[in-house]
Amino acid sequence: MTLTFDRLRKQYGQVVAIDDVTASFAPGLIHGVIGPNGAGKSTLINMTAGSYSVSAGSIALDGKRLDTLKKYQIANSGVARTYQNIRLFDQMTVLENLEVCFYPADVGGTLKEVMWPPYAAARRERRREKCMETLRLFDLQGYAQAEAGSLPYGRQRMLEIARALVCDPRVLLLDEPAAGLNHHETAELTARLAAQRLPDRITIIVEHDMDLVMSLCDNIIVMHHGKLLFQGTPAEVQASPDVQLAYLGTANDIDDIRAAAQDRRAQLGIRARRRS
Ligand SMILES: Nc1ncnc2c1ncn2[C@@H]1O[C@H](COP(=O)(O)OP(=O)(O)OP(=O)(O)O)[C@@H](O)[C@H]1O
Ligand SMILES: [Mg+2]
Repeated sequence: MTLTFDRLRKQYGQVVAIDDVTASFAPGLIHGVIGPNGAGKSTLINMTAGSYSVSAGSIALDGKRLDTLKKYQIANSGVARTYQNIRLFDQMTVLENLEVCFYPADVGGTLKEVMWPPYAAARRERRREKCMETLRLFDLQGYAQAEAGSLPYGRQRMLEIARALVCDPRVLLLDEPAAGLNHHETAELTARLAAQRLPDRITIIVEHDMDLVMSLCDNIIVMHHGKLLFQGTPAEVQASPDVQLAYLGTANDIDDIRAAAQDRRAQLGIRARRRS
């Protein structure tokens, strides 16, 4: 199973957000996507999840085109995502946030569910168990009956990831999962995501937090002005003068890149606090 971008392009009016990007993502690995603001990182996620259409080129999973499918069909193909700005069902409970997204493997049983109440009850119970089990992965079980919108910001980030994981996706797309998290929460998130690195899962993380990216990702893609500037291991990315130039405009060491990324986190932290 491989996810591939082939000569991918996205244009918003005159703005070319993604320009001729070809890349492939192997299962069992965590792939990082980094790059300065406006580089096109979220656009890649949005096109893969079907939120945005593709202007040219293609996206395929296992050789099967995704970009010609509707958004729900892409989700049914095993692609799940989170958003750069958290999008939970604020008025629902934490558990309900997962339950509404849980898609049973035996979807054909819906008619049986209507016709036979014991079957419906057993199915509800299975769904609840699976959702609770997923909440436990993120230590959220204690919040199960709380309104999602009432959770502290850091827990909301975790909940959004748990929701994306509840259907055991083959492709997990995370857009800035550490945005607005403090150092401690980011370390917790890094550990929890590391535990979700499964042999048959492709994980793609867009992130500005360099500590998270460098410690978690096996492979990193560096985007710059919509183009794929560099692809390599964390060590290769850190050693690349091209990458340093892309971030800073001057060739410098990784500490400067980290400092730039830290500024970015601080900006987002302010935005996150304002939001709540
Ligand atoms: N819906 C949209 N309509 C018009 N232009 C857009 C839209 N979404 C993104 N863009 C533009 O496309 C380019 C890439 O944006 P994108 O959000 O993918 O960048 P990014 O790498 O995720 O940036 P950031 O790190 O700030 O989140 C930018 O120039 C942006 O202004
Ligand atoms: Mg973005």
